Amino acid sequence: MLHSIEGEVAERKQKLELTWIGKENRPRLEPRILLEDQEKSYHAAQRVTDKDIFDNRLIFGDNLLALKALEQEFAGKIKCIYIDPPFNTGSAFEHYDDGLEHSLWLSLIKDRLELLKGLLRRDGLIFVHIDNNEFAYLKVIMDEIFERSNFVQMVSVKRASPAGFKVINPGPLTVTDYILLYAKNKETMDYKPLRVPVEYDENYDLYIENISESANLWKISKLTELLYHKNDITNWRQAREKWGSQWKAVRNSLLGDLAIDLKDQVVSVRDPHKPSQRIKDAMLESKGEPGQVIVLERDNNEPIYIYKGGSLAFYADKLRVIDGELTPTELLTDFWGDINFAGIADEGGVQFKNSKKPEMLLRRVIEIATDPGDIVLDSFAGSGTTGAVAHKMGRGWIMVELGEHCHTHIIPRMKKVIDGTDQGGISKAVNWKGGGGFRYFRLAPSLLENDKRGNWVISKEYNAAMLASAMAKHEGFVYNPDETFYWKQGKSTEKDYIFTTTNFITLEYLDSIHEEMQPDESLLICCKSFQKACEDRYANITVRKIPNMLLGRCEFGKDDYSLNIASLPWQIDNDTEAGDAAETRGKGKKSKKPSLKNQQGLFDKESE
Ligand SMILES: C[S@@+](CC[C@H](N)C(=O)[O-])C[C@H]1O[C@@H](n2cnc3c(N)ncnc32)[C@H](O)[C@@H]1O
Repeated sequence: MLHSIEGEVAERKQKLELTWIGKENRPRLEPRILLEDQEKSYHAAQRVTDKDIFDNRLIFGDNLLALKALEQEFAGKIKCIYIDPPFNTGSAFEHYDDGLEHSLWLSLIKDRLELLKGLLRRDGLIFVHIDNNEFAYLKVIMDEIFERSNFVQMVSVKRASPAGFKVINPGPLTVTDYILLYAKNKETMDYKPLRVPVEYDENYDLYIENISESANLWKISKLTELLYHKNDITNWRQAREKWGSQWKAVRNSLLGDLAIDLKDQVVSVRDPHKPSQRIKDAMLESKGEPGQVIVLERDNNEPIYIYKGGSLAFYADKLRVIDGELTPTELLTDFWGDINFAGIADEGGVQFKNSKKPEMLLRRVIEIATDPGDIVLDSFAGSGTTGAVAHKMGRGWIMVELGEHCHTHIIPRMKKVIDGTDQGGISKAVNWKGGGGFRYFRLAPSLLENDKRGNWVISKEYNAAMLASAMAKHEGFVYNPDETFYWKQGKSTEKDYIFTTTNFITLEYLDSIHEEMQPDESLLICCKSFQKACEDRYANITVRKIPNMLLGRCEFGKDDYSLNIASLPWQIDNDTEAGDAAETRGKGKKSKKPSLKNQQGLFDKESE
C-alpha cells in the first residue's frame, strides 16, 4: 500500500507547498541603478576609531526593486537580514475577500524573500518578525524558499503586557510576536550561542567553606545561613523584622550579590545530563554518605564532584561580563520575554507608534548573527532601528524604506547616531561615541519608456553616465570607467569590457577602438545604431542596439510593486457598463464596495 502511494506521489511530482491565487505570477524585475543624492548622504566630521564605517546605504524606494538593484553588488555578501514587514492585520483589506487578502500578502512577501535569500552569505541568517496573523503561512513559505532543513528556530517575543489591554478580546490576549529564523545553509551557518542575563538562581543555595582544601574534605553549608550570619541574624523571622515586608526580595537580592562575591565557592546540586554508569554508581554511593564529596577524575576535563546524589555545579560557570558587569546568565532560549517594548517611544529621538522595535531586540539579533564589520540588511526599515543598532555595534548596514519617514525619521535618527548625540537605546551599553556615515540613494527611473507611438525608447531622464551604468548592470558588468580608455566603462572579467554610447557607430569608429585593444581583450558595444558592416568585423567585438537588445528581458516602466489599495479596480455594478468603471472611480458613484478612502496599501508606507 505504502509502496503504491509513494509511486503515485513520485509520478505526480507532488510537493508539500502552500498555493494561492497568483503564486505563479513572478515579476520580471528591471535591475535598476541606484542614484546617490549627496545632499542627503551624511558622515561624521572626523574619524572616531579606525573601524568607522562610511559606506552604509540608505535606499529610498520600493524594496522589491531595491533588492533587485542590490543583487549585482551584494549577492552572497549579507551576513544578517532582519525584516519586520507590515503584518497582515486585515484592516487594510476589510472590504475585500479574505482569500484575496492572504494571496496578495503572500505573493508580496514571497517575491521579496526570494531576493533576500540570494543576498545572504553562505553562513548568514535571516530573521523575519511577524505576528500571529500570518506566521503559520509565512513558516510554510519560508520552508519552501529556504528549505525546511535550514529552519533554525521560531522565537517568541513578549511585546505587550496584559495590563495594557483596555478591551477584553474573545480568547486569550495577544502579547506575543514571532521571529522566524532561517539559515542560508544550516550546516555552514555562523550562529553565535548567546548567554543572556538572568536573576540570581535560587538553586545555587550552597557554598563550600574550605575550597582551598582537597575536595573530599570540603565542608558544604547553606548560603542563606552565611548571609544571615553576616547580617547578625539567625532565621527568617529576624530577616522579616530587619528587612520589612519585602524581606524575601531583599534577601534574594543580597544572596545574589553574595553569590557573585563567592562565585568559585557557591554551588548547586544538579542531576547530571546523561550520566555514565560510573557517575550513577557514585551518585548512589553519595546518598549513603551525605556531607561527603566524591571526586571523579576525567581525562582532559575538569573532575566531576558528586554530592548528596547529584553533581555540583559552580555559580562561576553561569557568570559572564555583560556591559562591564559580572552577571548571572543562561543560554538564550526561544522565548525572549526579557526585552522591554514599553518605554521605547523616544529611542532614536523619533516617534513611530506601534511599529518601532526596541534597540535591545536588534542588538540580540545582530549579536547572534554577526561580527564587527559584517553587513546587516533591513528592507522594511521603518524608523531605522536596525541601521541605528548595527551602526552602534560597528556593523555595516543597508536599509530600504519606501515611506516618507525615510526622510523624516531615518535620516535624522542616523545623523544623531553618527554625531554621537543619540545616547538612548543601546548607546550606553556599547559605549557609543559617534562616527562613520551613510550614503543615501534612490532608485533610478526605468531605463526605457514608451514614446508617443508606443515604442520603447531610452528614458529622457537618463544622461550618458546613467545610461552607461545601467547598461553595464543589465549586461552583468561592473561599471567603473577607466581613466585612459574611454571605451572601458566596465568589466565582467579582467579582459572583458563594455562600452555604451548614443553615437552612431561607423566602421572607422570601430577600427579606432580595435586598434587600442589588446588581442586577448573583448568588448561589448551598446549603441543606438551602427553601420551594418560593424556586426561581423571583429571576432572580439560585439555590437548591439539599445533598446532592442533589452526588450523582453524584464518589465520596463513599472515602478510600483507594492500593493496600493487605492489603485485596485472597483467592483462594477451589474447594471454598469465595464467601460464606465474608470469614470465612476473616486467620484463616489455607486460601487458595491464601501469607500476605500484613507485606506493604506499593505506594503505601502505606514503612517504613525
Ligand atoms: C513594521 S514597519 C518596520 C518598523 C521597524 N522595524 C522599526 O523598528 O522602526 C514596516 C515598514 O516597512 C515599510 N514598507 C512597507 N512596504 C514596503 C516596500 N514595499 N518597500 C519598502 N518599505 C516598505 C513601511 O513603510 C514601514 O515603515
